[in-house]
Amino acid sequence: MKFFIDTADLDEIRELSATGLLDGVTTNPSLIRKAGGEFFETIAEIAKLVDGPVSAETVATDHETMLKEGLKLAKIADNIAIKVPLTVDGLKTCKALRAQGIMVNVTLCFSASQALLAAKAGASFISPFVGRHDDISQDGMALIEDIRTIYDNYDFETEILVASIRHPLHVVEAARIGADVATIPAAVMKKLFQHPLTDRGLEAFLKDWKETGQSIL
Ligand code: E4P
Repeated sequence: MKFFIDTADLDEIRELSATGLLDGVTTNPSLIRKAGGEFFETIAEIAKLVDGPVSAETVATDHETMLKEGLKLAKIADNIAIKVPLTVDGLKTCKALRAQGIMVNVTLCFSASQALLAAKAGASFISPFVGRHDDISQDGMALIEDIRTIYDNYDFETEILVASIRHPLHVVEAARIGADVATIPAAVMKKLFQHPLTDRGLEAFLKDWKETGQSIL
């Protein structure tokens, strides 16, 4: 399973990229606003920090303008994936960008029928938002299972990128289902490492080791 980080904060990306466990980055207009930097400079900097796909989102709603935006953003670096919304114009733009060999991440997916259309439009990634489903008392992970089944039925190459992740169990569930990618907020990513028994066990081992009076180096 690939791990992307869901942020436009350069410090967070630097910190987690240093673990060697980051496979890519996703951003959206809200994350760009939160990070506060200039859009193009931020995306260019992120694209230098990670080798994998860096999603940069278009903001036009009509196909023509969206395509122009996508082509402009794709020039920033070779590892840019253009994010388009799951609308008719978004999927038209997806097809056009894919025809030019540009990676596309179709975002704001909330149903299996939408995911099927994105795959038919040749999307590199489909981003179903699990947390926003859970927020309205619907089962976000059930959608991931449906999409996995549908994509496997037809050998679609579109990667399932689980988005809107709120906690570590979302990541575990997504992995259990066989999603290709999880895009994870930095705070949740850090929680994946943690277990109180690891801390307690390490503390006891180090205490006992100290009492041996020996050293390894
Ligand atoms: C990522 O690509 C999505 O834009 C993001 O995961 C949405 O997360 P949110 O529902 O927490 O805003």
